[in-house]
Amino acid sequence: VRKPKKKKVLLMGKSGSGKSSMRSIIFSNYIARDTRRLGATIDIDLSHVKFLGNLTLNLWDCGGQEAFMENYLSQQRVHVFSNVGVLIYVFDVESRDVERDLATYVAILSALLQFSPQARIYILIHKMDLVVPSSREAVYNDRVNAVRSKTMEYAAHAMGGPAAEALDLIPFATSIWDQSLYKAWASIIHDLVPNLSIIERNLANLGLAIEAEELLLFERTSFLAVSSWTSPEGQRNPTEDRLERMSNIMKHFKQSISRFTGTPRNAEQFIRMEHKAGMRFSLFILKFTTNTYLMVVLPPGEARFNAAML
Ligand code: GTP
Ligand code: MG
Repeated sequence: VRKPKKKKVLLMGKSGSGKSSMRSIIFSNYIARDTRRLGATIDIDLSHVKFLGNLTLNLWDCGGQEAFMENYLSQQRVHVFSNVGVLIYVFDVESRDVERDLATYVAILSALLQFSPQARIYILIHKMDLVVPSSREAVYNDRVNAVRSKTMEYAAHAMGGPAAEALDLIPFATSIWDQSLYKAWASIIHDLVPNLSIIERNLANLGLAIEAEELLLFERTSFLAVSSWTSPEGQRNPTEDRLERMSNIMKHFKQSISRFTGTPRNAEQFIRMEHKAGMRFSLFILKFTTNTYLMVVLPPGEARFNAAML
């Protein structure tokens, strides 16, 4: 039996929009300020990222300088755009020439729809930290609407009404300077992990058995939240971005221990961390399987904590 070809994840967008930066933070343990050292990507940077043991992400970080883009659209068209599972298109929110960015995007979209019409499309409006907080929402909505209408306009023209309506863009506002990056990438990864429903069912069973309020399953190296389960009580937690906040915090924690102990950035692993004496909750985070960490949030109580840990 031949193994099915691994689907590609294409990372595209204008030069300088921040593609390699996000890739390095999520998959290579960079912190935000390390990305200032990155040079422009020449042609395509291919990487095979091992994920959850048996899943390999075939990530294509495509340099965005104009000459490269033109080349993807012409000579390399079939090579680049066939067998794509996910396109992540990155827009620099600070860009001065939005119309031009959109035109390039539509050219990429047309090639994608030609060779991989089933691919999922993520739109990241990136570098949101550069927009003053009071206008972030408005600027973001404005950009997303512009991308949506261009997409629909193109698709209606090229594919006809019903096919165009089925086209679904998944937008995110991101920045490497906060946890928003983790939210977007956790969602992207979530769609790529096979058998996630089995993992989710088992996580729920475990959560009920140990009377937890919340379980979060993190992938070991990226510390992205692959899956989670929340009890009805836990759903009353008003902090909505807690998953990605945890990813961000744990990632920084791992980096600081590796700096402190002098171990290479990928080698260090902690075994367990706990917070037991809380008045409102207790929690522990432990190495769960070879490729995951599990975070367990429990109502207060030593007995319940110890039983859950066991
Ligand atoms: P090409 O490889 O030429 O296509 O560019 P790229 O999209 O890979 O851009 P790269 O990741 O190299 O980032 C360019 C610059 O943007 C770097 O100096 C990053 O530090 C900066 N940058 C990336 N993400 C952000 C962000 O969220 N906010 C801010 N303020 N700067 C960012
Ligand atoms: Mg790059």
